[in-house]
Amino acid sequence: MNINPAIKAAVIVITIILTVCSMIICYLDLDGAVEVKDVPNAANRIDYIFRAYGSGDRWKWNSINNVESTDGSGGIIDDAEDPDYEGDAETDIEEGSTPFEETGENLPQWEHSGEYDPSIDILVLVNKEYALDENYVPADLVRLNYCAADRSSEWQAMTREAADAFNKMAEDALAEGHEIVVTTAYRSYNFQNYLYNSYVEKEGQAAADTFSAKPGKSEHQTGLAADVSSASVNYRLTAAFGDTEEGKWLAESCYKYGFIMRYREGKESITGYVYEPWHVRYVGQKAAKEIWEKDLTLEEYLGVVPPSFADSDVNNGSDVE
Ligand code: DAL
Ligand code: ZN
Repeated sequence: MNINPAIKAAVIVITIILTVCSMIICYLDLDGAVEVKDVPNAANRIDYIFRAYGSGDRWKWNSINNVESTDGSGGIIDDAEDPDYEGDAETDIEEGSTPFEETGENLPQWEHSGEYDPSIDILVLVNKEYALDENYVPADLVRLNYCAADRSSEWQAMTREAADAFNKMAEDALAEGHEIVVTTAYRSYNFQNYLYNSYVEKEGQAAADTFSAKPGKSEHQTGLAADVSSASVNYRLTAAFGDTEEGKWLAESCYKYGFIMRYREGKESITGYVYEPWHVRYVGQKAAKEIWEKDLTLEEYLGVVPPSFADSDVNNGSDVE
């Protein structure tokens, strides 16, 4: 075929331009991949997260220098304490070590939505003995998709990994006819301080200590715990939730998604808290399956059983957080 040399030259030039452009796009990561943003002030993180989430952006914290080690419970990965850490959390994790790759055949699978917080171990133990630093804020909080509408959306976020698992769990629950929603999940040190003191004021410290954690000692500060309820109990956090269809589904199914019922009936002397059929804690599918099958608490699973928290009174059934 006889092609005009000018057209031939134009096609070659256009091809070269397109190739160079696509190489530049790949190099600059402009094709929808992670956008790196600096958010220097930790106090603004939640607000920033929600705005970023709303605008469809994805983000990564560059500044995580407010993350502190726990007091020996061993939950914090060292890298995260380095303010200059900019590694890729996903590639830093040893091959095959994520809960998503170690699951049993019968466990549900889902796509992880992206990077997750390298600063906290999903098995971190937070209880009456082991506290988080008051400045600890999870680095990758994202809003949950299934939330009680009458609660502040500010506290309806979890770490990305836990949130992905929770969203999948709530989606599957709904498909099976059970609507479960989060009332609160991540709670800051200051918000927990406010909650705990409100309960002390209302019910006295002895009673408050049976169902509300002191600031720094609440799993909610890890971004790995969530309080779940349903319309059948008017979205309250009450022992009656455990007897609802939704509560039973949650108790029997949550391990498949990497969650455990943290405060179980009969385990009060180990956990230090009364029965809370609404409080789930993300530990990953592998640990959750073992904890479920062996009927353990997290303390027993980790081999860190306290002498006894048995001096706690039994909850009188009032709504708690
Ligand atoms: N209700 C649990 C113990 C908390 O306050 O974290
Ligand atoms: Zn809770």
